[in-house]
Amino acid sequence: MITLGVNIDHVATVRQARRTDEPDPAWAAVEAQLGGADCITFHLREDRRHVNDRDARALKEIVNVKLNMEMSIADEIVAIASDLLPTQCTLVPEKREELTTEGGLDVIRHADRIAPVVSRLRERGIVLSAFIEPIPKQIEASAKVGFQAIELWTGSYAHAKTDAEKMVALGELSTGIEVGHRAGLEVHGGHGITYRNVADVAEIEGFSEFNIGHSIISRAMFTGMREAVQEMKDLLSLHSAEEM
Ligand code: PXP
Repeated sequence: MITLGVNIDHVATVRQARRTDEPDPAWAAVEAQLGGADCITFHLREDRRHVNDRDARALKEIVNVKLNMEMSIADEIVAIASDLLPTQCTLVPEKREELTTEGGLDVIRHADRIAPVVSRLRERGIVLSAFIEPIPKQIEASAKVGFQAIELWTGSYAHAKTDAEKMVALGELSTGIEVGHRAGLEVHGGHGITYRNVADVAEIEGFSEFNIGHSIISRAMFTGMREAVQEMKDLLSLHSAEEM
């Protein structure tokens, strides 16, 4: 069964549109937990465009399921994670001009900078995950620098225009899972997963966690957060591949 991490960043995005105090991402996290979220995910970006330092502290206080902090390897953010002690840190690439994280971390290229961050945070008891594309060499490099998990970028599947492109993307994810498991890594997935496209990607055997933001927050505008999360949980239990 694939567990569900609900990414609540977009609740903070709405708040920041007016720089006021509502809606509160911490309230969203409470509602998501009541809807059955297995994990609350947030991204404390260097530019603080949505989630801010107060939100991170509030989430740490009120989240009693797994707390997953997405982050870059900037010194300031690493220091915050080291004090905050989320359950898991997912290291992601971060560019100022992007709308959202647009692809995976290049673990091979930046291994010298990533490895010390991984060991510093692991020493604090945090689980370290790398957000990467399903490229075997990146997966193997992630295991080598000390990550315990990888989150495979599901964007090439989510953005595929044709069935043929979709099949290629699903095949790459499936191979990625195999390579990850062989390297001793837990394998997660995320980016662009929606109520409409979750079935095919959940049916691949071997994912243990999905992190989903935009689609759940969008639906929550109309149904409320609890129901939106419950609906996604139902889809995951319907479509998660049976474990052997
Ligand atoms: N996983 C990671 C590492 C991300 O950066 C994001 C986007 O913030 C997500 C999952 C969620 O993506 P989406 O909002 O497309 O569901």
